Amino acid sequence: MTTQALPQPRITPLPVRKRLQLTQPKGLPVINISFNESPFAPTEHVLEAIDSATREVNRYGNPYCDSLRSKLEECFSIPADNIICGNGSEELLDVIGRAFASQGDEILIPQYGYIQFPIVARRVNAELVKAAEPQLVTDVDQLLTRVTDQTKIIFLANPNNPTGTMLPLVELQRLAQQLPTTVLLVIDLAYAEFTGDANTVAVYLQQIHELVNRFPNVMVTRTFSKAHSLAGLRVGWCHASTPMMNALYAGRGMGTVNAAAQAAAIASLEELPQMRANVDLMISERERLSSALRSAGYQLTPSATNFLLMTFPGATEQTADELAKSLFDETGLLVNRTREAGLEHYIRFSMALPKDNDRLLEFLQKYL
Ligand SMILES: Cc1ncc(COP(=O)(O)O)c(C=O)c1O
Repeated sequence: MTTQALPQPRITPLPVRKRLQLTQPKGLPVINISFNESPFAPTEHVLEAIDSATREVNRYGNPYCDSLRSKLEECFSIPADNIICGNGSEELLDVIGRAFASQGDEILIPQYGYIQFPIVARRVNAELVKAAEPQLVTDVDQLLTRVTDQTKIIFLANPNNPTGTMLPLVELQRLAQQLPTTVLLVIDLAYAEFTGDANTVAVYLQQIHELVNRFPNVMVTRTFSKAHSLAGLRVGWCHASTPMMNALYAGRGMGTVNAAAQAAAIASLEELPQMRANVDLMISERERLSSALRSAGYQLTPSATNFLLMTFPGATEQTADELAKSLFDETGLLVNRTREAGLEHYIRFSMALPKDNDRLLEFLQKYL
């Protein structure tokens, strides 16, 4: 080990995560329901688009994602000039953090906000401030009371991960109205497609994107990872007002959305009814499981997403660990162990295919 002085990171280092060796004791296939992904493979049309794009990967993808942004404009009536695409919405959250906050600034999030928000704050050395969420639902008044002169960004996901819960639209509108215009409000819509039927979602999306038009300090992020079944290709996008766009492009790398990802996202937007059918099935599975698990004695937050957050009477971190382990050992289903402070006695899992959900249910009904 050297005793020489070494370069010192300007970021708080994190321990490198140990490699996980998952062995299913019964030799069953491992079904990961811990990342809130879609259980549906992309359609043939999307796979063909990926295939033809990969045959030309001697060429760069379009660094500005021009065709994808035009397609998004066509689908959502949002000007392409007010859209920036990223390597997953995760990259865009990071870009927003770097573009609008640094050391000495505060980034405000709900108490159980999406895990990526604290990670962004840590990367830019900003102070993370958490606003209480008494009912595991984002609370607008709590957020507003925590705004200070140092607050640069509020990140909130609606619906949120890991809670699955959702603020009513009027509350988000009230937050946008009452917030000082110097504070950036980032509304992460990763799970928006799961908030209701096609019409309800269309209205919700339209009203949220309308906030960007009314309040230039509001941004909205979306992803192809969940409803569109493209998590592994990494495509997300952000709708922002015109004065914000140059800063976002300055903070993002060139060509971070690869050519195959762009082609797949466009193809997926050409097949919105298929995407919707998948989402409708996930919603009906979510409702079926919620009601059966509640009848079996489990406690669940009301979910507006493709996943459920669940605990049981008297649960502790240890007994939740035990449940997750037994479930994996018996069925191969791998759930998420929530590590957020205050949620350690919960587990979180996304909707799998109906036959796998049946196995989950069967196990959990016997377990309690
Ligand atoms: C609330 C929320 N936002 C964003 C993301 C990241 O999505 P992407 O795959 O687009 O980076 C996730 C992923 O789980 C999420 O739960």
